[in-house]
Amino acid sequence: MLEELAHIGRDPATNGYVRDAWSDCDLLLREWFAGEAARRGLDTREDRNGNLWAWWGDPSATPGVVTGSHLDSVRQGGAFDGPLGVVSAFAALDILRNRDFVPGRPLGIACFTDEEGARFGVPCMGSRLLTGVLAPSRALGLVDDEGDTLADVLVRTGREPGRIGRDDETLGHLGTFVELHVEQGRGLADLDRPVGVAGAIWPHGRWRFDFHGQANHAGTTRLADRDDPMLPFARMVLAAREAAAGHDAVATVGKVRVSPGNANAVPGLVSAWLDARGPDERDVRALVAELTEGAGRAQVSEESWTPVVDFDVALRDRLAAVAGGDSAAPVLPTGAGHDAGILASAGVPSAMLFVRNPTGVSHSPAEHAEQADCEAGVVALANVLEDLCR
Ligand code: GLV
Ligand code: MN
Ligand code: MN
Repeated sequence: MLEELAHIGRDPATNGYVRDAWSDCDLLLREWFAGEAARRGLDTREDRNGNLWAWWGDPSATPGVVTGSHLDSVRQGGAFDGPLGVVSAFAALDILRNRDFVPGRPLGIACFTDEEGARFGVPCMGSRLLTGVLAPSRALGLVDDEGDTLADVLVRTGREPGRIGRDDETLGHLGTFVELHVEQGRGLADLDRPVGVAGAIWPHGRWRFDFHGQANHAGTTRLADRDDPMLPFARMVLAAREAAAGHDAVATVGKVRVSPGNANAVPGLVSAWLDARGPDERDVRALVAELTEGAGRAQVSEESWTPVVDFDVALRDRLAAVAGGDSAAPVLPTGAGHDAGILASAGVPSAMLFVRNPTGVSHSPAEHAEQADCEAGVVALANVLEDLCR
């Protein structure tokens, strides 16, 4: 299945994936999902927020166990972040059927919309809308790089913007959610284990810094006369690194927009996006406060915030016991965000399985997982689902 997906959205120049939410590529991936579900006799339903659900059994009678992940990617992402969880969900279902397992509860496969937030800036859009932590009015007004709002894009793809928002009916189907994901660090590689379980997700957020200045000629404007926003921007990037080290956190400026972007002009505006995360929310908040203060007259706006997620301990330990084989699977914290975290915070008992990533590299074309580890992940997921659905 990963091979079938391998050509969709791949940039041949880099082998990286560009799979923006609601792009033609995303629509193809959605079709692929529905096709895989149909091959297994399952109907796919798209909820009001664009998330896909394929159910084995009827969740309107009894809430079920759901597994899955997302198919969108960061720009120039890897092949595994997201797709591995969706593909493993279908593969685990196949294993259960080969075992002639008859689930005692409905079993669902999910694909969440716009997990990465690559296009509109807010990650986990599908699960945030589903659970109501993101207001529809805010979501609909978010703008992509082309200047299109989410509302425009939903209309163009035949969806109904007026219907997005908290969806209690769909939430009511979710008894338990388990997301399998490629690990995005080296925890399992260091422990020499193929599969692990998530303990916690660090609190994390994204902030936009707009540094305004005065666009002017690069050759004729004397240094003393310049109001160059690139300088406070550069100071903020260096300060972010120092503040992160000082606060036991991580901080990243991975996206910058320079306007108007002439090599021969002082820019008029530099917009930069800060991503900050850490084990302790107070540290992350202190770091952002420090940078905001240091940025002087820059406008700073919080584009998203996700509080710490401590996954349900009993469920986590149950997964670790079932997924670990001879000895319990290791429990790892992560600095990466996931739909499972949004659902957990909304009160849906949720857990995650991680599959070893030999280098830990992720959000990059170099992201990798060995086939044997992916297969171990599928077997672990099948065992977990069998346990939860018995
Ligand atoms: C999603 O992968 C995130 O952690 O930003
Ligand atoms: Mn990701
Ligand atoms: Mn992911």
